[in-house]
Amino acid sequence: MLPQMQSPIPDYLAEVLHTCAPDTSGTVADYIPELATVDPELLGISISTVDGAVYETGDSDVEFTIQSISKPFVYALALADRGLDAVLARVDVEPSGEAFNELSLEKGSGRPLNPMINAGAITTHTLVGEPGADSTARRDRILDGLSAFAGRRLDADEATFRSETATAFRNYAIANMLRSHGTILDDPEGVVEDYTWTCSILVTTRDLALMAATLANGGVNPLTEEEVVDERVVRQVLSVMATCGMYDSAGDWISTVGFPAKSAVSGAIIGSLPGQLGIAAFSPRLDPHGTSVRGVDVCRRLSHDMGLHMMDAPQPARATIRRAHEIRRPDGGEATVYELHGSIQFAGAERLLRDLTATEIATTEVVLHLGRVHSVNDVARRMLLEAVRRLGLDGHQVTVVDPDGVLPETDDA
Ligand code: DON
Repeated sequence: MLPQMQSPIPDYLAEVLHTCAPDTSGTVADYIPELATVDPELLGISISTVDGAVYETGDSDVEFTIQSISKPFVYALALADRGLDAVLARVDVEPSGEAFNELSLEKGSGRPLNPMINAGAITTHTLVGEPGADSTARRDRILDGLSAFAGRRLDADEATFRSETATAFRNYAIANMLRSHGTILDDPEGVVEDYTWTCSILVTTRDLALMAATLANGGVNPLTEEEVVDERVVRQVLSVMATCGMYDSAGDWISTVGFPAKSAVSGAIIGSLPGQLGIAAFSPRLDPHGTSVRGVDVCRRLSHDMGLHMMDAPQPARATIRRAHEIRRPDGGEATVYELHGSIQFAGAERLLRDLTATEIATTEVVLHLGRVHSVNDVARRMLLEAVRRLGLDGHQVTVVDPDGVLPETDDA
């Protein structure tokens, strides 16, 4: 039996990690004393496809506090619990172009400009659960909800919670202003404590990749298959992440990286590409926007190399493998035939790679039949050609049947 093909995706992620690792610029957040105790060298990357294949490298199982990455998920729960109109009545969806802790309110109404800044997230905390929910009910709903997004039971870090509560003067000021405008009706101090507690929930990059993949998958967790929120909620959340998730660098981010994202002062970044995958990177040193230096670098590279800019994507990935079967040729030889169809992008090519790596191919001859494939984008083309190359190295004889020439072999074709 020939060796099973190894997927090139883990090798690629390890290469990205290796390339980004030497950059030690930026500083670890210290305005929350507990955050300053983190090892600044940590670097982890995880990605999860919408059907639950998780690839990870580096410190992907190290826990850190979720901080502002909780904001899109709390917004999602508020939308699910109270509906779009009730939430919009309290929190707008306009980019503020200011830092996360500015009191950016709409003139006249006193609505926070969006739910990704602190003023907006403090307000969305009052919109989670049943109207009138007390702190215990609110925290239970948030922990249950975020755990459902992650597909495992999460918990809060009491030390970080206490550390931030002792220094959250600015958030208390924001909450008092919101109370004076009537934007929140609850006790400002209690709401800030709940918001701070949410920020101290512990996650890994694997959890965050699955949370982002749940958004990319229309609200259904790829592993547990639980529908956490519905598709309309997801569309709203991803739209606001795309326009407001990166605060005062949102425009630069969406034009260069090109997928909805959210950053956190603990050093994590998530990205979510609808129909394809969720991405998470973690590295504690931050740039002046309060965003992870190496996390941004990782996302830029993944977007560029994997063709993830959402404005480049003509249509969502479709099921790629129409049929995989063995045939006996007239001369008695046997071959395994993979018939592909549709338009193949990263997620479709990954699906084929996963099939090729998960099954022991019983025949020496392998046929990739592209007769029903309309198009193969650049990253998928390189992945398919790499599969052909690796199968060859493993001793298979590979024939590509490509009547319409959708898989040119040269880079400049
Ligand atoms: O409100 C705060 O200060 C933190 N608990 C969360 C801030 C945060 O992560 C901002 N994101 N980049």
